[in-house]
Amino acid sequence: ERMEWDITTAEKAGYDYFMLKEIFEQPRAYRDTMRGKVKVIGDAKDSGVSQQSGVEIREKIDEEVAERIAKQADVNYGLPAILQVQIEECKLSVEKIQQIEKVHIVACGTAYHAGLIGKSVIESCARIATEVDVASEYRYRSPMITPRTLVIVVSQSGETADTLAALREAKQQGAHVLAITNVVGSSIAREADDIVVTGAGPEIAVASTKAYTTQLIAFFLLGIYFAQLRQTLPQDKITNLVMAVEQLPALAEQLLTTEKTEQLAEIARRIALHHDLFFIGRGVDYAVAQEGSLKLKEISYIHSEAYAAGELKHGTLALIEQGTPVIALMTQPALFDKTMSNIKEVKARGAHVLVIAYDNMAEELAKTADEVFTIPMTEAILSPALSVIPLQLLAYYTALTLGHDIDKPRNLAKSVTVE
Ligand code: G6P
Repeated sequence: ERMEWDITTAEKAGYDYFMLKEIFEQPRAYRDTMRGKVKVIGDAKDSGVSQQSGVEIREKIDEEVAERIAKQADVNYGLPAILQVQIEECKLSVEKIQQIEKVHIVACGTAYHAGLIGKSVIESCARIATEVDVASEYRYRSPMITPRTLVIVVSQSGETADTLAALREAKQQGAHVLAITNVVGSSIAREADDIVVTGAGPEIAVASTKAYTTQLIAFFLLGIYFAQLRQTLPQDKITNLVMAVEQLPALAEQLLTTEKTEQLAEIARRIALHHDLFFIGRGVDYAVAQEGSLKLKEISYIHSEAYAAGELKHGTLALIEQGTPVIALMTQPALFDKTMSNIKEVKARGAHVLVIAYDNMAEELAKTADEVFTIPMTEAILSPALSVIPLQLLAYYTALTLGHDIDKPRNLAKSVTVE
């Protein structure tokens, strides 16, 4: 018997669908996106990092990262080096970065959801007021652009017509336009003043996964970079954040084990029986909830809504019935108690609640939630790069259960070149 071999099967590297392959590629894609962007500027002993917090940081990072950093910096006493972000391809001068008065982030679809996280990162780290718009709306709302406005367009393909049109409008009005894109030679990459390239590699599945998460990595690096140059964060906080970013690939790997994916496949088989569900969260968890809901709708065709956890009681709570699945994200320690009361609100109306939270919260949550899926602990602002992974897998396994064509969902295209 002749062996059948076709190029598509080979490219899927043994996975049933490109989407699954791309989900599993994320740790590699994170590493490629941060490659060359972390620099060691000195030894911890002459930094603002105290021996105490140095040891705490050291305990949090894995051996591989610690060793590499140590090699680069001749680190003494087991303390970490002083770390910073460098973005060599970013042409914006230090002076210009210091003068930025506001940031507008413009994108479509999944890239827009990455922009929502970008806003949180830029505002909390670099303290620059940031607005996020879907590209098809941006041009028509007379955006207030000045020469001190930085417009960041986000696009995997670099060819989305709405985003390209917004870029042209922003440039014409005198903004400096920086593109976060996955395709170096794309129209958006060529027309922008500046680019930061994501290292996702080719993304084939229509539902975006590794492109989204590498856009998050790009925003983390950019936010820290701006914070450094604008001196909005102390150096030990920057070192801590950079280390935590470096740790994300290893932590993402912990979410892709057979035990973890099987837990999600099992939950997905139950989700597949429903017609409606809710995703809730606060802060960056709300932004991740929106992306999780989009992923599920795109490939399973099940209706869902993402809601800011505190807003449910102002109307949407009316839609919760006996057995309605509610997926709650709970990665922000400062918001834990508030989100907990929202979970109790939906539980009291009969919802079946799955909570996504850090390992160390599992026991406490088990008292209230019907199910808990745990993720490894990271800095609160970086959590989206981990918490979205179970949502991508839930969407995938739900669509798989329903027998849909996962890589080519109905009515959707990978790249949309009409407005
Ligand atoms: C299409 C795709 C989405 C994607 C959006 C923006 O609608 O189906 O998955 O998020 O375009 O694409 P871009 O290439 O600009 O990131």
